[in-house]
Amino acid sequence: MDLATEYLGIPLKNPLVPSASPLSKDLNSARQLEDAGAAALVMYSLFEEEIIADDDDLEYLLHGQSTGYGEADSYLPAHGCFDNCLDNYLAQVEKLKEALDIPVIASLNGISNSGWIEHAKDIQQAGADALELNIHYIPIDASESGRIVEQRIVNILAAVKQHTSIPVTCKLTTQLSSPGHVIKQLEAAGADGVSLFNRFYQPDINLKTLKIDPVLTLSSPHESLLRMHWIALMYGQTMLSLAATGGIHDAGAVLKCLLTGADVTHLCSVLLKQGSGVITQILQDMEQWMEEHEYESVSQLKGSVSKDKAINPVGFERLNYLRVLQSSQRS
Ligand SMILES: Cc1cc2nc3c(=O)[nH]c(=O)nc-3n(C[C@H](O)[C@H](O)[C@H](O)COP(=O)(O)O)c2cc1C
Repeated sequence: MDLATEYLGIPLKNPLVPSASPLSKDLNSARQLEDAGAAALVMYSLFEEEIIADDDDLEYLLHGQSTGYGEADSYLPAHGCFDNCLDNYLAQVEKLKEALDIPVIASLNGISNSGWIEHAKDIQQAGADALELNIHYIPIDASESGRIVEQRIVNILAAVKQHTSIPVTCKLTTQLSSPGHVIKQLEAAGADGVSLFNRFYQPDINLKTLKIDPVLTLSSPHESLLRMHWIALMYGQTMLSLAATGGIHDAGAVLKCLLTGADVTHLCSVLLKQGSGVITQILQDMEQWMEEHEYESVSQLKGSVSKDKAINPVGFERLNYLRVLQSSQRS
């Protein structure tokens, strides 16, 4: 069975790529992921807030994040832990490159188009094979239009591309008015891929303290459906590499994402819950399904069930919507 795929122009032995998580902070857990069969590794993010030194900017950004209900809230280091973050991150890129044979994709997480972006070149020099950008911006200012919010993503990507020659991919939020349009703009600005989608970690209110409780809930499998849907819609409309991230917990979800057109599938929550051994299990289950359904390779099944194959895609979407609503009325 040929499980090989290509992501961001990099040939991979299979489509299973652990996404950004603390598992890449430790060389042993990174090695375990590789031994279990991971085809590449996305590192935990280096945050803009960790790079910038100016305290005023830092306070502003931290305030923005904590009222923005952002994913970053939960894993942003507490104020005061910002010493040598960039150096430590670069050292970790070097160590991972030394310890692993699989490609290492570094991750930058930020929201402003300013000096921190230049450090993308340091990450490249440290040996990263590619870079993932997580522009986790929550538009809390109601006067800011969708166009401005989306242009921010494209501008940051374009600025990062100016400082690097390695492939760069963007991890996108679901909250875009027209994800396809943003993806096309990113493509025009020089992106190499997109990762669909970032998860939101919605903090809760503690009724005893009346404070906001930052809670990090791991994903559940139904979240993969949204990813699958958008991969299917984008397949054939862009030349960018497509990665699915969010709710992918088993071989079934991996296969469905590939069938709709993903080049790779990212795993995170399932690795944190079940350990790296789940990668081996997923690979075995994939091979078994492919054998039973007479597929010989991942490239053969990639995109074979996607909107691209529908004659009237808008009609196809509407019809599905209608069917879903009607089926719920019958049950
Ligand atoms: C503990 C934890 C830490 C994470 N750290 C990062 C990070 O540093 N940068 C990032 O872009 N995403 C980060 N993520 C998001 C994951 O990479 C992934 O996109 C998300 O969890 C959805 O995938 P999943 O459903 O497989 O968990 C983190 C997620 C978790 C649970």
